[in-house]
Amino acid sequence: MSKTIIITGGAGFIGSHVVRLFVNKYPGYRIINLDALTYAGNLENLRDIEQAPYYVFVKVNILDIKELKNIFERYHPDAVIHLAAESHVDRSILSPMDFVYTNVIGTVNLLNATKDAWAGSFKDKLFYHISTDEVYGSLGEKGFFTETTAYAPNSPYSASKASSDHFVRAYGETFNLPVIVSNCSNNYGPNQFPEKLIPLFINNIVNEKPLPVYGDGLYTRDWLYVKDHARAIDLIFHEGKAGETYNIGGFNEWKNIDLIKLLCRLMDKKLKRTPGSSEQLITYVKDRPGHDRRYAIDASKINRELGWKPSVTFEQGLSETIDWYLENTEWLKRVTNGEYLKYYEEQYGGGGR
Ligand code: NAD
Ligand code: TYD
Repeated sequence: MSKTIIITGGAGFIGSHVVRLFVNKYPGYRIINLDALTYAGNLENLRDIEQAPYYVFVKVNILDIKELKNIFERYHPDAVIHLAAESHVDRSILSPMDFVYTNVIGTVNLLNATKDAWAGSFKDKLFYHISTDEVYGSLGEKGFFTETTAYAPNSPYSASKASSDHFVRAYGETFNLPVIVSNCSNNYGPNQFPEKLIPLFINNIVNEKPLPVYGDGLYTRDWLYVKDHARAIDLIFHEGKAGETYNIGGFNEWKNIDLIKLLCRLMDKKLKRTPGSSEQLITYVKDRPGHDRRYAIDASKINRELGWKPSVTFEQGLSETIDWYLENTEWLKRVTNGEYLKYYEEQYGGGGR
C-alpha cells in the first residue's frame, strides 16, 4: 500500500528515528520531512537514508502558513505525524514565547493547513500528534498517569504542549478531523541534543566537567529508549483508532541521582577510568523552578489494545546510547557550537563548566 506522509520535526531527536523507521520499513511510502532546522534539528541524523527514492526533505517553519499550504498542494499527503516542537523545559523557562509560537501557533497552523487541504474528505486520513506525559503535571510517591488523568502542566513547555493537545482534540471534535494524540515519557538514545539529562551528562563525563544535579536529585522520570517510542508511533499510526489518546512509557522509573550514578559507573568502565572517578563530578545546583517531582506512565492501554511493550532493557539501551556518543564525538562537537555554549552559560552560569 502506498501513502504520502508528512512528518514534522524529522531532523530532531525522536523525529529522525521515526523517519528512519518509516523509510526503511515502508519503502513504498513517500515520506516528506518538514523541519525548520533549529538548533535541535540536524540533517546529519538522517544521512543514512537521505538518498532513499521516496524520501523528501523540505526546510520550512511551521509558523509559515503560506508555505505549509503550498506543501500540501504539492504533495497531497494522506497523513501528518507532527513532532516539530520546542522541547526543552529549561529553555521554556528562559524564553516561553518561543514555545507559544512553535508548539501552539505552529500546531494550529498545521491543523488548519491539513483541514483545508483535506476539505472534509477525511476517509483514510490521519493527523497524529506526538505529545508528552508532562502535560499531566507531577505525581506524588504513588500512582500513574493514565489517558484520563486531568491535564495540569507546570512548565511553559508542558503548558504549550497541553495547549497543542487541546487544539488537536478540538479540531477532531469540531471539524471531524481524524486525530490521534500519544503522550510519551522521557526518551533517551542516539542523536539526542546534549541539553537533556542523559546526553548532557555523558558529554560532561567525557570532558570531565561538573554534572549539575538540580535540587536534591530525587526527582523521578520514566525512561524509554527512543527506538521503542518510534515502534509505538508506527503501531499507533497504523492500528490506533482516530479520536483516541495513547500513553507510552518505559515501565522504567529512576530517581535522577540513581540514574546518574549508574551512568557514572558505566562510563568509568567504558572509558577505563578508576571506578568512582565520574561520581566525583556530581555537583548539586539550584533547582529548576516549577520542577515536577515524579512522572510515571501507565502504558497498559497501548499494551492491551495494540500489543506494544518496550523491547530494550534500560541497561541495554543505556549501554548502546553511551557507545553511540563515544563513537560520535564529532557529531557532539558540531552540535555544541557557539550558540549552544551561550545557552549553557545562561543556564548553568560560569564556574568552568
Ligand atoms: P527535538 O528538540 O530534538 O527536535 C525538534 C525538531 O523540531 C527539530 O528538528 C527542530 O528543528 C524542529 N522544529 C522546531 N521548531 C520548529 C518549527 N517552528 N518549524 C519546523 N520545525 C521545527 O525534540 P524531540 O525530543 O525529538 O521531541 C519531538 C517531539 O516529541 C516533540 O513534540 C516533543 O514534545 C515530543 N516528546 C519528546 C520527548 C522526549 O523525551 N524528548 C518525550 C515525549 C514527547
Ligand atoms: P530533562 O532531560 O531536561 O527532561 P524533563 O525535564 O523533560 O524531564 O531532565 C530530566 C531530569 O533531570 C529532570 O528531573 C531535570 C533533571 N536535570 C538535572 O538534574 N540537571 C540537568 O542539567 C538537566 C538538564 C536535567
